Amino acid sequence: MILSPSLLSSDFGRLADELAALETAGLSWVHWDVMDGTFVPNITYGQPVIAHLRKQSRLFFDVHLMVERPERYLHEFVDAGADMLVVHAEATPHVQRALAEIRRLGVKSGVALNPHTPLSVLDYVLDDADMVLVMTVNPGFGGQSFLPASYRKISELRAMINARGLSTLIQVDGGVDPSNTAQLVQSGADVLVSGSAFFKFPPYAERLKAFEAAANS
Ligand code: DX5
Ligand code: ZN
Repeated sequence: MILSPSLLSSDFGRLADELAALETAGLSWVHWDVMDGTFVPNITYGQPVIAHLRKQSRLFFDVHLMVERPERYLHEFVDAGADMLVVHAEATPHVQRALAEIRRLGVKSGVALNPHTPLSVLDYVLDDADMVLVMTVNPGFGGQSFLPASYRKISELRAMINARGLSTLIQVDGGVDPSNTAQLVQSGADVLVSGSAFFKFPPYAERLKAFEAAANS
């Protein structure tokens, strides 16, 4: 299990300190929620902020683009220092092209699905993705309640990936905390994103241990 803390719930005035604290606490990934005010109602940060923080961190930058027509910005986010770019299947009619372009630019590719989006949209693009992000809340805000229908979706996606002999990672995002971690991992999740249930419970090294203990229980 990989834990990718979502900076959406961190202190935006101290992002450099937060990244340093994550690294010190033993985290290896960090999750950036980029919101454009159109695909989702909220607005967060973009390429310039990531580029500045890239100079100060060796963490794996997992960048979740909640942006309409993300293909317009892929190059800029790679230049800014993203290690993985995740685009929403609902945000572009050209999902395959976007995923292929992300790999061509030299970083890992991911495709995200909103809660209502069926797994069938992955049928012809699964080979193009290094990771599938299963949204377990409706995107846009931190601190929402986990949607229990997600467990079946994760299990079915795990079966689909295994049946094809792929090593695609499954990431889950939204309402994740130590109380649902065991069932998420058992359902087939590899990467857990946590915002509010992580940053509101320092020290971070202890919080990482709580998630790891739950995952192994
Ligand atoms: C929601 C974002 C999430 C969010 C998760 O739109 O994609 O990454 O930060 O926050 P929590 O863990 O608080 O649900
Ligand atoms: Zn996210």
